[in-house]
Amino acid sequence: MHSKAFLAALLAPATVSAQLNDLAVAAGLKYFGTALGEGTINSDSQYAAILNDKREFGQLVPENGQKWDSTEPSRGQFNYNQGDITANQAKRNGQGLRCHTMVWYSQLPNWVSSGSWTKATLTSVMETHINNVMGHYKGQCYAWDVVNEAISDDGQWRNSVFLRTFSTDYLPLSFNLAKKADPNTKLYYNDYNLEYNQAKTDRAVELVKIVQAAGAPIDGVGFQGHLIVGSTPSRANLATTLKRFTALGVEVAYTELDIRHASLPASSSAQVTQGNDFANVVGSCVDVAGCVGVTVWGFTDKHSWVPGTFPGEGDALIYDSNYRKKAAWTSISSVLAAAATGAPPQSSSSSSTFVTVTARPTSTTTTTNTPPPATSTSSGGGGGAEQTRWGQCGGNGWAGPTRCQSPWTCQKQNDWYSQCL
Ligand code: G3I
Repeated sequence: MHSKAFLAALLAPATVSAQLNDLAVAAGLKYFGTALGEGTINSDSQYAAILNDKREFGQLVPENGQKWDSTEPSRGQFNYNQGDITANQAKRNGQGLRCHTMVWYSQLPNWVSSGSWTKATLTSVMETHINNVMGHYKGQCYAWDVVNEAISDDGQWRNSVFLRTFSTDYLPLSFNLAKKADPNTKLYYNDYNLEYNQAKTDRAVELVKIVQAAGAPIDGVGFQGHLIVGSTPSRANLATTLKRFTALGVEVAYTELDIRHASLPASSSAQVTQGNDFANVVGSCVDVAGCVGVTVWGFTDKHSWVPGTFPGEGDALIYDSNYRKKAAWTSISSVLAAAATGAPPQSSSSSSTFVTVTARPTSTTTTTNTPPPATSTSSGGGGGAEQTRWGQCGGNGWAGPTRCQSPWTCQKQNDWYSQCL
């Protein structure tokens, strides 16, 4: 068994639900989390009900509310109305909080991005902002994205007011200021397209080394994980890339995971591929000792930034727009359950997921205590074998065991997936 999973199994509470955060913790991660859309939480009760369930999401991150344009839209005028939505929700639900984001070229008010600064004046602006915002959330954030997206896709340093004023010296400066503002939160560099292990990834490795060489603190690197169905690297390649950073002594996490279809509507086979891609990402985190958790950037296709930015693309999340669990959800659940029990993947392929999906679900999916109907499972292939706790025991196309070891029972999660609980 994976050492993280072994430890977690020893510590696991007697009853663990089939939901993603519970499974992630049982698999040795710290959390499975989601971004919270500040405009959605009070206007969509189905959204709120799922998001508020700690068994599903053990950690929240504000999608927009803690960004500079929200927290200090005018110089010296601080506003926490939006940021507090997520912080308060997490507190109420007993969920963890990731905090996002401090020094970023985007969603930066004009008074900063178009100002004419010297090193001294911009240092003062950054210090005031960081002290106020990190001070406001002091003690509440598991981690803060201190510097966000400092590298362009071609691997060059991204042009910004910070780079123009300080060159790369703003990197250690930001981390030093953050440490002073909240000494106990984990300080992260956070970026997208690091997953492909190309020039941008090389530059991010250099970034960590620059900060460390300057004697500044950096605790983690966030892989945002804004990926594309069918173009997501394999589980092994993802793990190799994560390890380039853990080898530098920092932890890693997937911080904004979504995997979009490049064209819509997505076919059944594209949905299976999406499920495999999600499983590969989550599986790579389970495989790497310093990978602490996975956060999805929203959870329902009803509310996502993707179609607005990539017209014609989308359906990038794990619940569909009617709040039905997708193949992606099932695949993640399967890979976490396998890690939690130490069970080998049960698919016939060598991919890291063992869900076999033949169709979109047709009904709302809720956890019930009823075993799956006989029609939803196949009795072939499973023989007389009994499935272990958390293992799959049914679902459309499932050819493995349909009975569970005592005292566990086979419980339907959705049309594709029943699980021994
Ligand atoms: O709040 C205003 C509203 O008052 C106004 O009426 C409306 C008109 O367009 O805009 C609203 O602001 C929007 C904001 O989201 C809140 O909904 C902005 O236009 C819109 O640009 C902004 O998009 C966000 C985007 O970051 C901005 O860069 C997305 O929601 C958010 O998901 C996205 O998140 C980023 C991460 O922070 C960093 N990594 C990439 C990721 C995806 O782009």
